[in-house]
Amino acid sequence: MAAAAAAALQTNIRPVKVPATFRAVSKQSPFRVRCAVASPGNKRYNITLLPGDGIGPEVVSIAKNVLRQAGSFEGVEFSFQEMPIGGAALDLVGVPLPEETISAAKESDAVLLGAIGGYKWDNNEKHLRPEKGLLQLRAALKVFANLRPATVLSQLVDASTLKREVAEGVDLMVVRELTGGIYFGEPRGIKTNENGEEVGFNTEVYAAHEIDRIARVAFETARKRRGKLCSVDKANVLEASILWRKRVTALASEYPDVELSHMYVDNAAMQLVRDPKQFDTIVTNNIFGDILSDEASMITGSIGMLPSASLSDSGPGLFEPIHGSAPDIAGQDKANPLATILSAAMLLKYGLGEEKAAKRIEDAVLVALNNGFRTGDIYSAGTKLVGCKEMGEEVLKSVDSQVPASV
Ligand code: IPM
Ligand code: MG
Repeated sequence: MAAAAAAALQTNIRPVKVPATFRAVSKQSPFRVRCAVASPGNKRYNITLLPGDGIGPEVVSIAKNVLRQAGSFEGVEFSFQEMPIGGAALDLVGVPLPEETISAAKESDAVLLGAIGGYKWDNNEKHLRPEKGLLQLRAALKVFANLRPATVLSQLVDASTLKREVAEGVDLMVVRELTGGIYFGEPRGIKTNENGEEVGFNTEVYAAHEIDRIARVAFETARKRRGKLCSVDKANVLEASILWRKRVTALASEYPDVELSHMYVDNAAMQLVRDPKQFDTIVTNNIFGDILSDEASMITGSIGMLPSASLSDSGPGLFEPIHGSAPDIAGQDKANPLATILSAAMLLKYGLGEEKAAKRIEDAVLVALNNGFRTGDIYSAGTKLVGCKEMGEEVLKSVDSQVPASV
């Protein structure tokens, strides 16, 4: 079903040529020049950067520098290629995901995305909305497994809206199915019924293989964490959830070391704010995962802190902060770049298997926070308020100062 949906989406994409100037501009970046000569023996990866809209370009340019710096200590080099997506692509060539962006993404080793969307395109027709570009990209890359960690860092406990004793120590992972369910299910549409009234409809649909493959990723993830997996569904009402629960339960015997539980989504939403520490790994469908991961992010203090990894069976992964494009603060140097920097760490760890370089980035973020630097979204009295660029520079300094890495 997901494959059919992906194919359907593909046929909607008109081939459009991205003007040469777009690539030329990205090639002129200082980073490209510095990176032009590969040292012998170094590993080299091709990364497609999709800055997108709003604060996307600001945070991606910082994460790119952090990636390069962390890699340089571990014999890892990068070639970056910037391509348009979302509103930026709509303005440039009239579609939210140009063919050239898809090909570049597919041919690279990993993709780092900023954010998409903005007021300017809010009233566009459905197929010309920036969000469509992101959904098409997820389908094109077949990234069905979306990992969204929500960790309350001790430095930021007071930024959480929950009481310290509830928030402290929270460390959970939402494994969200990303290429199926109601986001892609057919039939869908808006039509006029027999009474002449408009009706909007969508389809929540999951095939057994789609459930099995995301459940396996979740069991494996839980196995590497604290061994607890909670599958979230609405099996008291929805047939798609009844099948979901049946398939997840059937797989449990293959993972005897993982303790499996089930929870209805309404209860899970409540439990997440009542006692979030009860969760280790959560696996759920596309739409419940969308909602619960935003909720989980707020436990950590700010959505500006949370990275994500979207993975396929083979082929490049897609790494992006879970926050949106924040058009209200775009271009004002106010955005928190840490979610994108941490997405770059996930890119290294899950996308390229470069765990040491990933750890360097994670450690550097902690050092910058330990040194008291905060963007507006995580600011509290007694800390140092900085802008997006300065926060990026602090992380870069911390990457530089921790040689050798603490792996
Ligand atoms: C997310 C976002 C997207 C989603 C939107 C922008 C299409 O909310 O990544 O969580 O709904 O998946
Ligand atoms: Mg969302």
